[in-house]
Amino acid sequence: MTKQGRKAHCYGPSRPPRPKPNLPEQSRVAFAPGRANSDALPSMPTPQSRVAFAPGRVNLIGEHTDYTGGLAMPIAIQLGTTAAFEPELSSSRLELSSDQQATTGYLDLQFIAKSTTDLPAIRPGWIRYAAGVARQLWVQKRLEPVGGRIRISSTLPQGAGLSSSAALELSIGIALGFEGEPVELALACQRAEQLATGVPCGVMDQLASATGVAGCALMMDCARLSIDPVPIPDGIEIAVIHSGQTRKLSSSAYALRRAECEQAQNVIGPLSRPGITESDLSDLTDPVLKRRARHVVTENRRVAELAQALKSGDLALAGRIMLASHKSLAQDFEVSTPVLDAMVEKAMAIPGTLGARLTGAGFGGCIVVIAMSGSLDNSSFPGKFFAVQPSQGARLLS
Ligand code: GLA
Repeated sequence: MTKQGRKAHCYGPSRPPRPKPNLPEQSRVAFAPGRANSDALPSMPTPQSRVAFAPGRVNLIGEHTDYTGGLAMPIAIQLGTTAAFEPELSSSRLELSSDQQATTGYLDLQFIAKSTTDLPAIRPGWIRYAAGVARQLWVQKRLEPVGGRIRISSTLPQGAGLSSSAALELSIGIALGFEGEPVELALACQRAEQLATGVPCGVMDQLASATGVAGCALMMDCARLSIDPVPIPDGIEIAVIHSGQTRKLSSSAYALRRAECEQAQNVIGPLSRPGITESDLSDLTDPVLKRRARHVVTENRRVAELAQALKSGDLALAGRIMLASHKSLAQDFEVSTPVLDAMVEKAMAIPGTLGARLTGAGFGGCIVVIAMSGSLDNSSFPGKFFAVQPSQGARLLS
């Protein structure tokens, strides 16, 4: 972590990992109420109630670049998910309920901690994310498994491309007692998402939620896992507009796009290496792979250019760079839809709009728009419009 990785951003004091417990029976015995203190393992802390919040994210630019170690520039937003954990020492399971879900879910501590458990088989589907996070914390990070209740509430629309799943994962991770650097939590939650969904997602969503900085976009180097905050200039506003096409990464061509990038890399080497240009793509004879690679190479360049344009206050240029990104995603990476294309066009016709593009994986979801302050409101896209502010990242509330 570069500028972000300081103590203030840790979710707890840094300490050496605890020894791996015998999962999970020992923990229940050790903390069982009514037992004499001498029966308990003396060094074990008492599990606490915790309330944690993690924001969603909107990516300003740098789409489908994270999984080849490229650049992206998301913002964490004010909308997000809160997880309130209430431990219950005698319980061998976690009960999960959410204000956005009709069904309460239960996770058996022992079942989750087993590496052979098939998480995508867990029902209801939404608790798979919690199962993935719990497994990462309890097995990989060797945190003590503790049963109890987790209540989730969220202001994020689901399946809209605002990373509601990353927000869910991070809020649960912190509520369950993760301690350490934001980048570590982001990596654990990325893995949790991969386990839960089977989708080979990159790290951008989780890293943005973990490291958000109020008032800033996050210039993210996904190879070095570093963040450089870029202040959003005064006088502009950012909005997200939902296409109404909810998309599920698992049923989209996300994995195929990632595989295509890997095939291109097998021919011409790392797509996100410094100094690569379009002329390095000439050995790609497959026209589809060439287009995919061209998107990644040009998109990485656009991220750096947008950061520069924002720093110098060249807002018109910033808008043009965002539009070029949308065109590349539509034509070279083929992840846009006619609805998203039409929304970009409609947004650009509003006086004061500077730039617009699809945000997130594509195949539906949202567009992001930047405009001169006061230009955008709900009237052009009733019910689908969210004004977003670059906000602080995931944190423990109490
Ligand atoms: C999804 C993934 C991210 C990233 C984007 C596309 O949001 O979870 O890792 O690949 O798509 O930029």
